[in-house]
Amino acid sequence: MTAYSNILFENKDGIVHLTINRPDKLNALNIKTLEEIKDAFENIYDDSSIQGVIITGAGEKAFVAGADISEIAELSEVNARKFSENGQEIFAAIENCHKPVIALVNGFALGGGCELSMACHMRVATANARFGQPEVNLGIIPGYGGTQRLTQLIGKAKSLELNMTGDMISAEEAKTLGLVNHVEVDGESAIAKCEEILKKIASKAPLAIGLVIDCVNAVYNEQENGYQTEANSFAACTKTADFKEGTQAFLEKRKANFKGE
Ligand code: COA
Repeated sequence: MTAYSNILFENKDGIVHLTINRPDKLNALNIKTLEEIKDAFENIYDDSSIQGVIITGAGEKAFVAGADISEIAELSEVNARKFSENGQEIFAAIENCHKPVIALVNGFALGGGCELSMACHMRVATANARFGQPEVNLGIIPGYGGTQRLTQLIGKAKSLELNMTGDMISAEEAKTLGLVNHVEVDGESAIAKCEEILKKIASKAPLAIGLVIDCVNAVYNEQENGYQTEANSFAACTKTADFKEGTQAFLEKRKANFKGE
């Protein structure tokens, strides 16, 4: 277990459980917490024993109830831009991570919390989860990618509705809209679901998984031609030992043993 003040970081058999740990503040993201998430992801990128990540919130009530409003309230225009760009950069590092990252949303995922969950590759919610972008109630707008990723995930009309009304939606509504992958009755079954998905992905060729993430992310990058990225990535796979192993194993009617090489 790596020591942090505001997050818990535990590597359990190759699956990192990263818990935002400020339950008395409903796990609100202050600058220190964001710095710790950034540091944790530097470890996740570098540590080859890590196969996947589950991000969740401590306590019964919240995943993350937003950026810390006590810090936002003090921001000047110059610092607000830095604040937004800093969060966007850290969330982009999550989105671009070559290892699967699942948000286990176990309560309020509001503002920066909804944005954090959307930077993850998938969302598994407990039945009591609530999603929303309530920034307009504070006279601001989402600053950690909420206007962009919510639109990517649920489409323009619903994204505008949620971003303009500040309304919260239930886990089931979020699933219907395509924001959530799975809804589970409680935290225990949600962890089991996340682990089941991550273990399944861990049995595949890791380099191919990283390239799938790059190619799907390329859809939303206007500077990039996603089809070209896909063709290049497809070709790059043929140079890996795992490609030889995967195709050979199929032909020999045995299970592939991938090494991430
Ligand atoms: N930033 C800082 N502190 C927050 C917070 C946030 N985003 N969200 C909750 N907290 C704190 C509260 O101030 C309170 O602290 P206190 O006990 O020291 O007073 C504690 O967490 C518990 O929250 P509380 O509001 O008492 O819980 P509740 O059950 O009555 O309401 C919410 C829950 C989520 C509806 C409510 O906390 C809320 O609206 N939070 C802000 C959501 C938001 O606007 N997020 C976007 C921020 S950009």
